[in-house]
Amino acid sequence: MTERTIHRIAVNTGGGDAPGLNAVIRAIVLSSLHRGWEVLGIHKGYEGLLDTSKIIQLDRDSVRGITHIGGTILGTTNKNSPFEYPTKLPSGEVTLVDRSDEVVDAFRRLRIDALIAIGGDGSMRIASQFAAKGLPIIGVPKTIDNDLSGTVVTFGFDTAVMVASEAIDRLHSTAEAHERVMVVEVMGRYAGWIALHSGVASTADVILIPEIPFDFDAVCEKINDREARGRRFSIVVVAEGAKPAGGQLTVKGHELGREVQLGGIAELVAREISARTGKETRTVVLGHLQRGGAPTTFDRLLALRFGAAAVRMVEARQFNHMVALDPPRVHAVPLEVATSRMKCVPLDGDTMQTARDLGISFGDEVG
Ligand code: F6P
Repeated sequence: MTERTIHRIAVNTGGGDAPGLNAVIRAIVLSSLHRGWEVLGIHKGYEGLLDTSKIIQLDRDSVRGITHIGGTILGTTNKNSPFEYPTKLPSGEVTLVDRSDEVVDAFRRLRIDALIAIGGDGSMRIASQFAAKGLPIIGVPKTIDNDLSGTVVTFGFDTAVMVASEAIDRLHSTAEAHERVMVVEVMGRYAGWIALHSGVASTADVILIPEIPFDFDAVCEKINDREARGRRFSIVVVAEGAKPAGGQLTVKGHELGREVQLGGIAELVAREISARTGKETRTVVLGHLQRGGAPTTFDRLLALRFGAAAVRMVEARQFNHMVALDPPRVHAVPLEVATSRMKCVPLDGDTMQTARDLGISFGDEVG
């Protein structure tokens, strides 16, 4: 049987935005036009295939000058998987409904030959589910959290680390001037990549990550040791998913059809440090600043490389795979590799060892 010629592909962006999404879209569009293909832009993840009125044709003009711009020209969402779509029943009750067949129908009706889905773990899982339903899909990994398996790094991570590092650098002087403990909460969900990399690069004194449940005695010991050596201020970087040994995650909220919203651990840590050491504390929650704005050069280049590689994979019909970085090459890994497990910080990794050699505490070692 001869393979169908590629005429039209589609692209969507799903999950929380990450700096570099527009660069991927641009690389996909230009590489596709170069091959004589049409490109459809799907609005807000898969929402655009449930309501096709917002699908747009992407041409050279649509992607002009967007490489360095944050966000995504296609819009995104980190809720409402088509496989579990929150739907209001006549009774007023909201329930999760499988609307994936509507997406498949729209895909066929629009005569789309392949979909490039740019997203994080949730989006890759959905891509994998659609691949199982026969859709020709290629994934492009994005997330500031860097928690996707199969790729050494995702674009967006470098920018988030840069933003966090710059913020921590600035906090040093005010912490020292007031002899305070500054507790900085960074994103990352259940992985400590952003906290570890920004904390080490910006010489934090304590870094608390989800991979190491922490002990307040150990955290305070480090602060008191510094005090005894005349260093009357400290910087604590805490990942939003970190938790005390035997304790719980700090959660802000939970809505049907989306993941729990993490946040608030900095306040808890600061309160406990203050109570135990008598030192004045302040908290800074960096939040969405880590996701906004222009991507770093590293993220731009990675995003452009991922976009162009995804189009080459469509051409080679290497579907049900995700683009991945395995330096120096960009290659394809099966979608299951990306979704099988979360990529956490390896505790025996070089960056962890470097941090310990520098005397940074992870709140796990008492005296
Ligand atoms: O996955 C990216 C991320 O920024 C996480 O680090 C964070 O927990 C979450 O998204 C925040 O999501 P929202 O934009 O819904 O607040």
